[in-house]
Amino acid sequence: MTVEQIKATIASIPDYPKPGITFRDITPLLQDGDAFAASIEYFAERYRGSQITQIAAIEARGFIFGAALAKALNCGLTLLRKPGKLPGEVLSQRYQLEYGSDELQIRADSLDKNDHVVIIDDLLATGGTVAAAVQLIEQTQASIQEAAFLVTLDELPGEQKLQQQGVACYTLCR
Ligand code: PRP
Ligand code: HPA
Repeated sequence: MTVEQIKATIASIPDYPKPGITFRDITPLLQDGDAFAASIEYFAERYRGSQITQIAAIEARGFIFGAALAKALNCGLTLLRKPGKLPGEVLSQRYQLEYGSDELQIRADSLDKNDHVVIIDDLLATGGTVAAAVQLIEQTQASIQEAAFLVTLDELPGEQKLQQQGVACYTLCR
């Protein structure tokens, strides 16, 4: 399956969740077994044979792709979660949303300087969410290979924001 065919399974929903916003909906892609499997295989091809020790996946939709990719690469899965979901000592990072703010957390003991990580999420928009993920992972001393996304919204500054943090970006669909 080509990237264009995968892209064609992503729906564009006008005026959701607010008037004027076109929401890119990945649920039809997930329901298409060939498209879901192909998207994971594109990611896996990119990282197979590299020294990745952990896939760091962002709650919630990043978990879907992160779990499947970690399984395909036979490496670990590190969860970056919304607040109050992880036991034990956690590191926290607040970030700005279009309206308001949110927070991501990681277990303080989940990564160390020997880890080589790919961050994964379904979608890159303003880049606020992944920027928080980068800051958390940097605090653990792990190294970040790059951040990977199924979709990047080209009209928003997410990629530039990542670049400013010195993190490379890979995206399947634009
Ligand atoms: C969406 C998406 C990314 C983030 C991208 O998650 O899955 O994580 O927004 O936006 P940004 O680049 O502007 O930060 P959302 O917060 O809606 O959470 P969900 O995955 O739990 O639905
Ligand atoms: N789709 C899904 N999640 C999002 C979007 C979108 O278009 N924009 C910001 N988060």
